[in-house]
Amino acid sequence: KKSVKDIDVKGKRVFCRVDFNVPMQKGEITDETRIKAAVPTIQYLTEQGAKVILASHLGRPKGQVVEELRLNPVANRLSEILAKNVKKTDEAYGDSVKAEIEKMEEGDVLLLENVRFYPGEEKNDPELAKSFAELADVYVNDAFGAAHRAHASTEGIAKHLPAVAGLLMQKELDVLGKALLDPDRPFTAIVGGAKVKDKIGVIENLLDKVDNLIIGGGLAYTFIKSQGHEIGKSLLEEDKIELAASFIEKAKEKKVNFYMPEDVVIADDFSEDANTRHVDITDIPSDWEALDIGPKTREKYAEVIKGSRLVIWNGPMGVFELNVFANGTKAVAQALADSANTFSVIGGGDSAAAAEKFGLADKMSHISTGGGASLEFMEGKELPGVVALNDK
Ligand code: 3PG
Repeated sequence: KKSVKDIDVKGKRVFCRVDFNVPMQKGEITDETRIKAAVPTIQYLTEQGAKVILASHLGRPKGQVVEELRLNPVANRLSEILAKNVKKTDEAYGDSVKAEIEKMEEGDVLLLENVRFYPGEEKNDPELAKSFAELADVYVNDAFGAAHRAHASTEGIAKHLPAVAGLLMQKELDVLGKALLDPDRPFTAIVGGAKVKDKIGVIENLLDKVDNLIIGGGLAYTFIKSQGHEIGKSLLEEDKIELAASFIEKAKEKKVNFYMPEDVVIADDFSEDANTRHVDITDIPSDWEALDIGPKTREKYAEVIKGSRLVIWNGPMGVFELNVFANGTKAVAQALADSANTFSVIGGGDSAAAAEKFGLADKMSHISTGGGASLEFMEGKELPGVVALNDK
């Protein structure tokens, strides 16, 4: 895919879709990773003398104006980061916005209002896409995190303008693409999280590519159950037991080393002050619940990680939000941080939040800014926001 570096943007109005969908609490941004991740593209464009028109969604306002979901706090923070005034409009298209753009000089940055205030955004309404396109001469998509959505500002607009990738988009596609197409080996995938249901596509796709598949988190207990063990009150997806067993079979056929927990942390309650014990997976009492991987498993997983040249990690190993059940996830993050020869790719969302919580985020080789988008990419799906880029 062509990037913003392959085209001439001087003096041009550039509609740059970014993913500023950042977590907020009471009007305060609680994690600005995504804002910082878009800065290289914005800075490049301003240095080249473009007029930079930024667009993003925030939250899920469902086509209505929701006051708390205006992008004003983001504009303020971005102004500080860029050390340059970023003007913010109260609309995302139309005459008032056009008038603001008229006033822009080369190197100026403008942030449009939350594009999801308009029902046409998520419907990918061609009229709205056209209205966005009328604002600019060039379209740049740097919103990797929203690239799995075929919306007016991520997909529809690209039909009307020369459309290329931003630098963050390009980096995400390069790293994740190389991992799936031409991985350094041994290649290990760590798949965790609550539900098998959410990870079926990823496990299926990765089974064809990896040397080692490690599982953990809530979804592991359906796998453990599928091997005939009793799991007490641990999470179980009854309708996925057969599928779990078939994945284990497939791993054998494909000569993929399959690792599931050998021991677990069990608790008599889902809370920070529950009574907890370590047991083997064959010994989970019927009225206890497993909420993390145990010490033997942590050691084993760390060993596999250290012997790998590439690891993709998606999903925590336990309920890491509660400190008593965080050690498994922490051990995985620590092993990735400690292995200098392992290229570590963290699929966004919860694993990224975990790495952050343990203060290990800057030790990872690549943390994706996409949760859903990186998941769909790892499932082998095409991302509509990427497909739409016409490279003109
Ligand atoms: C994300 O946070 O994963 C992206 O910004 C997409 O948000 P969405 O799931 O509301 O489409």
